[in-house]
Amino acid sequence: MKIIETVREMQSVADAMRSAGHTIALVPTMGYLHEAHLELMRVGKRHANKLIISIFVNPTQFGPSEDYERYPRDPEGDLEKARSVGVDIVFMPPVEEMYPEGFQTTVKVEKLTQHLCGLSRPGHFDGVTTVVCKLFNITKPHIAIFGQKDYQQLAVISRMAMDLNMDIQIIGVPTVREADGLAMSSRNAYLTQEQRPSALSLKKSLELADEMLRKGETDAKAIVRAVEALIKEHPFTEIDYVSICDPVTLEDMDRIDQEALLALAVKVGHTRLIDNQILKRK
Ligand code: PAJ
Repeated sequence: MKIIETVREMQSVADAMRSAGHTIALVPTMGYLHEAHLELMRVGKRHANKLIISIFVNPTQFGPSEDYERYPRDPEGDLEKARSVGVDIVFMPPVEEMYPEGFQTTVKVEKLTQHLCGLSRPGHFDGVTTVVCKLFNITKPHIAIFGQKDYQQLAVISRMAMDLNMDIQIIGVPTVREADGLAMSSRNAYLTQEQRPSALSLKKSLELADEMLRKGETDAKAIVRAVEALIKEHPFTEIDYVSICDPVTLEDMDRIDQEALLALAVKVGHTRLIDNQILKRK
């Protein structure tokens, strides 16, 4: 496994791989790798014969009062995990390599970012699309893998790739969960033992919504109210949003006709958690 820290070296290695006829899969991450990241890497390996991962805690996607400084980091542990799944190249640049002095360009997806997390984290998705666009230009993948846990991120990146004719296949991987149902996240490391049952209220509320729909409830507001009530029963929770929306446009829906996205963002203590599920009428 090769570790690369500069843009110039990464680009020339990617060029050489392409010239040799290899297909490249990229899994972008912010590190502190867990089983879900490794699952994305395994999917990447199935779709390509060279796997590049990036580890970069991207400052431009964090708001001024967010957790950039204290975001968990474990480069040594990450490299060991990457090795265990057969990653070919780890691209882990320092911040100055990605954002040298004078940097001033932003890639912005307009409408999809004006819903859900885009409302409570202004500028967040601009940071994501800009860094992912850069990572694409640096690692030159044929395929890039993202998790459905960050549903809106996947939607926004897919839109960017399509709109800018990036010629990269974007693949979404279903949410990977802990045994108790909690969606895996590097931020779960912040949760205290007493907060953990409250963190489970997200997954429980997705199940409740599914059950209500199965019993014939199609009024989105009624389901949102029930989901909010369930979450509020748990201590330490503060709801950012509970939304039932169109899975493609992310616009709010009043009634669930066929398919809808239920998306949640909830703070448990200081830890902001997200989860989502597609609700389907049988
Ligand atoms: P990060 O939070 O490290 O996540 C890296 C990738 O892992 C993302 O595609 C995310 O959706 C996926 N992922 C995380 N937890 C998951 C889970 N429980 N199940 C399935 N996939 C999961 O997302 C980012 O980093 C950054 O925004 C990034 C895209 C790297 C840009 O900086």
